Amino acid sequence: MMKYLLYIVVMVFGVSAMAQTNLSWNPIAPGVWSVKVGQPDKLNFYTVAGVSPKLDALKSMPDVAFPLEQNEITAQVVDHKTYLHFPLDKAERIFGLGLNFKTVEQRGRIMRLHMDHYGGQDNGRTHAPVPFYLSSNGYGVLINAARYIDVWVGTAVRKDSKHPPQIRDRNTDKNWEANPYSDNIEMVVPADGAEIIVFGGPTILDAVRRYNLYNGGGCLPPKWGLGFWHRTPTLYGEQEVLNEVKQYAEHKFPLTVIGLEPGWQTRSYPCTYEWDSNRFPNPERLLDSLKKKGVYANLWMNPYISPDGELYKKVLPYSASHTVWTGIVPDYSMPEVKQLISGHFSRFLLDKGVSGFKMDENDGFDEWLWPDVAIFPSGNPAEQIRQTYAMMMQKMTLDLYHSKNTRTYGLVRGSNAAASSFPYVIYNDYYSHPDFITALINSSFIGVLWTPEVRGSASAEEWLRRMQTVCFSPVAMINAWADGTKPWSYPEVEKQVQDIASLRMQLIPYLYTNYADYAFYGTPPIKAMNLLPGFNSPVSSKEGILNSTDNPYAKAVKQEIKDQFMVGDDLLVAPLFAGEKTRSVVLPQGKWYDFYTGKFAGEGEVISVTPGMDIIPVYARDGAIIPMMPPVLKFGTEKSPVEIRYYGQKESSFSLYDDDGLSFDYERGLYSRIRLSVSKDKKGKLKGDVSIPKGATLWSYSGFTWKFMTK
Ligand code: GAL
Repeated sequence: MMKYLLYIVVMVFGVSAMAQTNLSWNPIAPGVWSVKVGQPDKLNFYTVAGVSPKLDALKSMPDVAFPLEQNEITAQVVDHKTYLHFPLDKAERIFGLGLNFKTVEQRGRIMRLHMDHYGGQDNGRTHAPVPFYLSSNGYGVLINAARYIDVWVGTAVRKDSKHPPQIRDRNTDKNWEANPYSDNIEMVVPADGAEIIVFGGPTILDAVRRYNLYNGGGCLPPKWGLGFWHRTPTLYGEQEVLNEVKQYAEHKFPLTVIGLEPGWQTRSYPCTYEWDSNRFPNPERLLDSLKKKGVYANLWMNPYISPDGELYKKVLPYSASHTVWTGIVPDYSMPEVKQLISGHFSRFLLDKGVSGFKMDENDGFDEWLWPDVAIFPSGNPAEQIRQTYAMMMQKMTLDLYHSKNTRTYGLVRGSNAAASSFPYVIYNDYYSHPDFITALINSSFIGVLWTPEVRGSASAEEWLRRMQTVCFSPVAMINAWADGTKPWSYPEVEKQVQDIASLRMQLIPYLYTNYADYAFYGTPPIKAMNLLPGFNSPVSSKEGILNSTDNPYAKAVKQEIKDQFMVGDDLLVAPLFAGEKTRSVVLPQGKWYDFYTGKFAGEGEVISVTPGMDIIPVYARDGAIIPMMPPVLKFGTEKSPVEIRYYGQKESSFSLYDDDGLSFDYERGLYSRIRLSVSKDKKGKLKGDVSIPKGATLWSYSGFTWKFMTK
């Protein structure tokens, strides 16, 4: 009888009218749980990314229990929309939810996660609108639905709240708050269902590591990718490109990648993906010549195909109902498209020596992108394609390079969840230096990489300050597509710019190991301070001051760390921006040392520094072991000596990673780990040791010397 009644309820109201409060969570990997609510879309981040979790690495992490009260997570499908509710503790701080540029903490914010070119506001419209949040309580939550998801992060107050805010009178109570306490995160996914995935910790860093490992681990760029990049002006031809490379050599400036912008093609906006024979009469000759010089070529492209290109007719049947800049929009969710475009790229580009791509315009802007009313031949809705288009392009090109056992490292203007293992770095046209650093910090919460690329600057000071930060980012790059700047364009600071680029090259053994740790253990190579243990004290805002024009509700002001970050585990980078002479630096618990001098800088405190224009403040943790190489201008086949810098007094070790730097053979175990360690002898004197496992191959390093920086 009951069964029959239930049947009637379901028939009359539809499955979609039923609330699901008792979600049944399934363990899907160590410390990772999933639940499917309603009927999730077929297309989601994982069907697009096609990645497999790094189970061994996940297994080696500490055992954790489900990190939340299960019955406090609720879901309901109503009118083809999925409503989700997650609990929040009073002191909990929330990070992530897309590549934000102005804010680090997301509690108290409302957003719609929507793929777009960043428009100056952290409202969810951004290059990587990743629906993943990390909690200072040490867990993460992903909504695996490629939809425009609305999120209320600790703003909505429910009648049935377990922790209702106090009722206050604004007339008389000075503690009245414009945003009364909210104990939840709520979301609307505009679909009949969604998968929710919860990642345990126990720490916040462990939670993001689990997320990255579940996504197949982070990417490992080829070693040349971590060198120095230059993108040439749009209409440069063969001779100009070669001349640019020559000038780099003459100025003794490192260069490992040269990027060609739209003009390498016969047509751009829309594109043909065919070499322009006037500007590039003999692409093979150019690519061979670059190769001989140790410079890798990267090609710009956008997804829209010109009627003047050979691919047009072939891809036409598999393209969307709408055009962009009169070019067709390939339906990248169709295997036919991947096959046709991969085939073309393979034959005309990869096989001739192109090392990778810069995949532009797959994020927004709405004014010229296909609209959401566009129909794609696969039947996948435009909304889902919009959220994942840039990922599909990353996947297609990565698969192609993988099939040739050659690593690639490129640029992309969009990405999303589950893309940690794709070797692509996000960039954009928005050009605020401080906001670029905030984006760098935020990238570490959501499994993507970001570059604060350098374009022209208003002054030599700004140029130098930008060069200093980009050299500590995933891609150290000048993008001169529009203004033709060169590293030496501001002669007053040429030497300083050269020094910082040289330092970038010197740091490669350290950086490359950090990327290997991203690939093997999911640890982000750049880290927000909030990912460090003990960094998330409960209080993160200060009282707002009532002001009838600026702050009529006396809203609290958040205190966030938006301008300093960690590179690897041991280096803290605190950039200055043009016009600043002094800044404060928050040094976490433990002793910290000046990277350049080895001198003690502070310990669990906020210091104020006035470093002068030539210096970007960098601090090394007590016990930091930083392997460095000579400041080469490019990577050859020669092995280099390693100088191991050591800071402070603490005994410690570092597992230096090495492999061929070029192929995917490391996935088959062809790599080495060299143990660098510092211990104290009986008299308390520090001693450095290098231990190379028996039979280990050394691809890159010829010898090791220690340099104890702290006297
Ligand atoms: C922009 C891109 C720039 C540059 C330019 C070339 O969309 O963000 O970096 O590539 O296109 O037209």
